Amino acid sequence: MLKVNFVASLDGATHIDGLSAGLSGEADKRLFRQLRRECDALLVGAGTFRAENYRPLTLDAPRRAWRVEHGLAEYPRLVVVSRNLALDPSHPALAAAPVRAAVLTTDDIAASAELSKVVDVIRGPSLAAGLAQLKSLGLNQILCEGGPQLFAALAKEDLIDELRLSLAPLLAGPGAGRITAGLPHEVRRMRLADWTVSDDGTLFLTYQRA
Ligand SMILES: NC(=O)c1ccc[n+]([C@@H]2O[C@H](COP(=O)([O-])OP(=O)(O)OC[C@H]3O[C@@H](n4cnc5c(N)ncnc54)[C@H](OP(=O)(O)O)[C@@H]3O)[C@@H](O)[C@H]2O)c1
Repeated sequence: MLKVNFVASLDGATHIDGLSAGLSGEADKRLFRQLRRECDALLVGAGTFRAENYRPLTLDAPRRAWRVEHGLAEYPRLVVVSRNLALDPSHPALAAAPVRAAVLTTDDIAASAELSKVVDVIRGPSLAAGLAQLKSLGLNQILCEGGPQLFAALAKEDLIDELRLSLAPLLAGPGAGRITAGLPHEVRRMRLADWTVSDDGTLFLTYQRA
């Protein structure tokens, strides 16, 4: 199961000044934490990993207890998707990860010795092959936190089972791109499975593969 979570403004922006934080109200932050609590692995594109302030996935004690009660490992595993493997091995989200992080790559570029010390490198000729390897490691519930290029690459291979899209009640103005970027792909049909609205006017949409 691959779930993707995005927040966007009403006019389609995925970031304000390079960060998604400005789009996310309290209710969206709660959803973000809830989705993290429920996944086996957190998949994130290297662009988002470099741009956003990723910290070690250290969940608080109640969340860890909830996970164990529900048959999950104590912590989700961080998996960064990258082609060029230009990732800083001293990045706290990698170096201080509570469980060893992984980098999923679809290229043949060798990882530096420093990076190999802190992450497992998972190679596949495609994202589908990489995700199959994650599954073979028992990582079945995958939460993807973007970004737009990774989203389009996953959609190109028709790997997206669910999209959780939060529509923030604001107009960000021109500039920022959409939740999808990169190479074109076939139209993928989704069906509305659920929606809710929070007190702050954020619309939470759940779409599943049609
Ligand atoms: N609003 C939201 O919910 C939300 C969510 C996420 C991100 N964002 C925003 O999106 C922006 C970042 O966008 P982005 O499109 O650059 O981020 P991205 O999709 O996270 O990262 C792109 C990078 O991911 C790797 N990648 C993508 N597809 C791949 C594939 N098929 N195989 C192997 N590696 C692949 C490549 O890494 P390498 O360069 O290492 O080769 C590529 O350069 C930030 O401003 C962030 O704030 C917003």
